Amino acid sequence: MSTDLFTPTDPSDRSRLTELRRQLHEYGHRYYVLDDPAVPDAEYDRLFRQLQAIEARHPDLVTPDSPTQRVGGHALDSFVSVRHAVPMLSIRTETDTEASGARNFDTRVRRELGLDESAPPVVYVAEPKFDGLAINLRYEHGVLVQAATRGDGEAGEDVTQNVRTIGQVPLRIPDSVPQVLEVRGEVYMGRDDFAALNNRQREKGQKTFVNPRNAAAGAVRQLDPAIAAQRPLSFFAYGLGESRSAESDRPALESHFELLQTFKRWGFPVSDLVVIARGAQELIDYYESVARQRDQLGFDIDGVVYKVDSLALQARMGFVTREPRWAVAHKFPAQEQLTTVLGIEVQVGRTGKLTPVAKLAPVFVGGATVTNATLHNEDEVRRKDVRAGDTVVVRRAGDVIPEVVAVLVDRRLPDAKEFNMPPQCPVCGSAAVREEGEADYRCTGGLVCSAQRKQAILHFAQRRAVEVEGLGEKLVDQLVDGNVIRTLPDLYRLGLTSLAGLDRMAEKSAQNILDALQKSRQTTLPRFVFGLGIRHIGEATAKELARHFGKLDAIMDASVEQLLEVSDVGPIVASSLRTFFDQPHNREVVEQLRACGVQWEEGAAAPSDRKPLAGKTFVITGTLPGMERDQAREMIELAGGKVSASVSKKTTFLVAGAEAGSKLDKAREHGVPVIDEVALRELCHGGA
Ligand code: IVH
Repeated sequence: MSTDLFTPTDPSDRSRLTELRRQLHEYGHRYYVLDDPAVPDAEYDRLFRQLQAIEARHPDLVTPDSPTQRVGGHALDSFVSVRHAVPMLSIRTETDTEASGARNFDTRVRRELGLDESAPPVVYVAEPKFDGLAINLRYEHGVLVQAATRGDGEAGEDVTQNVRTIGQVPLRIPDSVPQVLEVRGEVYMGRDDFAALNNRQREKGQKTFVNPRNAAAGAVRQLDPAIAAQRPLSFFAYGLGESRSAESDRPALESHFELLQTFKRWGFPVSDLVVIARGAQELIDYYESVARQRDQLGFDIDGVVYKVDSLALQARMGFVTREPRWAVAHKFPAQEQLTTVLGIEVQVGRTGKLTPVAKLAPVFVGGATVTNATLHNEDEVRRKDVRAGDTVVVRRAGDVIPEVVAVLVDRRLPDAKEFNMPPQCPVCGSAAVREEGEADYRCTGGLVCSAQRKQAILHFAQRRAVEVEGLGEKLVDQLVDGNVIRTLPDLYRLGLTSLAGLDRMAEKSAQNILDALQKSRQTTLPRFVFGLGIRHIGEATAKELARHFGKLDAIMDASVEQLLEVSDVGPIVASSLRTFFDQPHNREVVEQLRACGVQWEEGAAAPSDRKPLAGKTFVITGTLPGMERDQAREMIELAGGKVSASVSKKTTFLVAGAEAGSKLDKAREHGVPVIDEVALRELCHGGA
């Protein structure tokens, strides 16, 4: 199904053109002036390209006020407008997300420079395309005197007060710099800072931000600098504006790369991801390498930028309208798209948790087709006010589950009904209750509820638990709905005839399931404990419990006090374990599973295991060369350490990888030692 709400149905280009201009004006105003985008960038770009296409067919219909003739928006009235000494250009965008984007650019550059095939590859600088907002920093005699937004490229807004609050922007630079120097770059908000800001906003009952770029733009355009100062912003330098110096001490720079190195020396942050690339192939390699790192970076990027490195060649190539011929932006696939909500369903989880889920018209976003997005809980649905039929912004970044980030209320149908959590479990009809202090409704049906039983079975059979290969959702549905099995141990009582009688189950596949069940009988204690599906007991906790107690009976009989001795186990987890094993029917399930031949090797209790990192708190930042951040976290936790999100005096070590940002500064400020991945591995294995 297509979510393309705007495929031209109107045969008349002229009326389509008027409508597109109206929409683009409206969306452009919301985006540039109000910092409150009405639609995702991809949607804006799509409409913009449609308009460009129509105008290309009818050049006579192009008017000076068409959005295609103007980049950016007006300065806000409340800020003083600043005319840029040197216009702030935009960059031509290659929308082709394949290798051809880089090849097209290289081909154009070579043609414009009159290079034939025998000429050596052109030297480029490749940079991330930071997803924040462009700022011009003006220094006179080494002192920051003005910071301005890009605005429409000719004039922007004076946001000096707010930009001065950004720690990464130097207020002074060495005296030896040109008398007038304008450094251009991107103000952005790091992902961790963004998450922390939204948490604070939520706690205060204030509006949260859709994404880091909106949060950064909002902060820079904040009229009250005191509020701006509380918004954690960062900066990367990437270009030069006006530069004036006495002829004698003009810095003899020849390349863009040198310029960036010089900025770095003067104290400006320059991304470590900036590289020299020779020829189209190295640009392609760069694009692919950065695309792979995208989700692990500490900040959002929406593509990469290629620039001709030689300043002399840049000057020779010049500009077309507002875009330099020597640079191009090569975008990544969008992580936000529009789609419609077909309905809101309530799903029942293993522990009875009721989760509202938006069923979406299929949409390709962040590299995958998305048809469901969790709405988490009642408060979340309320906060976002998502309704069936709504047009919504869906975001999917990396492996993170897709999310509805906003609703386009202006496209809502008049009869769209507000969503309410049902008072009963939609599957078994038992009462649904929301306990005080909890965000979730739960079905009170327990084992009566077939949805809970199904989920419990799927949880037990999953790869990370005892692993019953081939036992998937469809099969479990049939087994439970047809009353073939009721509880976990029933799985091991299945016979060939009962299985082979099921829908689409030939004898061969039935035998495969029986073989898989047989194989799953031999498991390990942590897998078994995790597989029981006790609330709050994840894989890591199950491992800890197994290591600490050695035997299942010891875990089942441990008192709350004894459980609390296990690292990683706090009062909530301890009481959840006790509650579970205090229920005779749960013990019965365990006994029956054992009787059915499910077994594992028991070990000796190891309560005094060495925990080299006990009592130590770590913060992880940047991209580690050899492991994901989650892996690093797990390694630290298994060695008894704690991982925290922000650096404070209490932090023992900061583990820093590439592109470490504000946390690194903070660590230095607090005198927190900074280590790399290698040192971390040594510590975890009990070294030093
Ligand atoms: S260079 C002459 N480099 O992209 C080229 N721009 O349309 C001037 N941007 O909003 C820009 N990362 O804020 C350049 N590494 C980078 C960039 C970058 C992001 C943004 C910039 C502006 C847009 C340019």
